[in-house]
Amino acid sequence: TEFRIAAIPADGIGREVVAAGRAVLDALQAGGGFSIAWEEFPWGSDYYAEHGVMMPEDGLAALEGFDAIYFGAVGWPTVPDHVSLWGLRLRICQGFDQWANVRPVQFLPGIESPLRKADEAALDWVVVRENSEGEYAGLGGRNLASRGRGGEIAVQSALFTEVGCERIMRFAFDLARTRTRRKVASVTKSNAQQYGMVLWDDVFRRVAADYPDVETERVLVDAMAAKFVLHPEDLSVVVASNLNADILSDLGSALAGSLGLAASANLNPERRFPSMFEPVHGSAPDIAGRGAANPVGAIGSAAMMLEHLGRREEAARVAAAVEAVTARGVRTRDVGGTASTDEVTAAVVAELGV
Ligand code: NAI
Ligand code: MG
Repeated sequence: TEFRIAAIPADGIGREVVAAGRAVLDALQAGGGFSIAWEEFPWGSDYYAEHGVMMPEDGLAALEGFDAIYFGAVGWPTVPDHVSLWGLRLRICQGFDQWANVRPVQFLPGIESPLRKADEAALDWVVVRENSEGEYAGLGGRNLASRGRGGEIAVQSALFTEVGCERIMRFAFDLARTRTRRKVASVTKSNAQQYGMVLWDDVFRRVAADYPDVETERVLVDAMAAKFVLHPEDLSVVVASNLNADILSDLGSALAGSLGLAASANLNPERRFPSMFEPVHGSAPDIAGRGAANPVGAIGSAAMMLEHLGRREEAARVAAAVEAVTARGVRTRDVGGTASTDEVTAAVVAELGV
């Protein structure tokens, strides 16, 4: 089997960690079983400096025929963050209807976590993020006529549709059924946001009735932030809107030890369009270009991509290799080690033994 994969390293450490993930996948394919035809797209903030856009007008059409997209991170101080994020990552997520963003959180052996001492086995969650609407629907505007006179107003609306809520919840419940702990916690702020999030609650109750074998819980987002820290053992699948899940998944990865560890998949579950795999973290301008980026999140995202492509066994091999490497203490600085991005990557490749 040959897979066609589009690589978009984009900005900052996105480039370093995409190179790491590619090295791991290239080592695996050398071991036989499948091969990868990569095509790299030089889109991002440098492209913007040259062309005035983050990606070309017909960029989505160029990506459409690929089996998957492997993404780094977007954002650089030369471009306003809302311009770079909307111009590339959100354009792909929304253009390809990648409505389910799956973000697992786990302990890795050898990695210190602020929680680990409290409970060894407690952290094993998947945050399921609604990825197509909610607070990131892009609805609103600024009253630019009043700009500069101190009285400007801006409106940022959140969009919740019954179809959008229902599909992400069914996704979360189906996922819960594949896990040891069959439980879905739904996160909102429906006491304060009385329209969209109350619709979310209504749909959650209705969908839950179809899954009587799955335990449910509804938690307000502020309380959930505390629960992540205080009762991690009580969670399995956490389903939340675009903004809430974005925040909670950074918290989750920090609790696991570092933002650099967390992997994610932006899925178009109907497979009408390619799905996109990327680490949860951003472009980290503060450490970019120094070989200090933790590649584990990007390598984990490559493993999720393999799984999506039907290579479950190879995906598990990559995950096991990463665990063996962190357990041996080969770690980047963000998780208390001294190894460089390349050293960790080389150790994972060596561990694969291909
Ligand atoms: P960030 O995730 O880039 O960095 C936050 C902190 O975590 C920094 O101190 C950074 O050094 C550290 N960190 C992140 N990833 C790491 C890794 N792999 N290894 C070691 N340390 C790591 O978030 P920040 O600073 O808020 O945003 C920087 C830029 O990234 C902005 O332009 C932002 O818009 C963009 N961004 C892009 C995302 C994407 O493309 N999916 C997601 C989040 C932010
Ligand atoms: Mg984020």
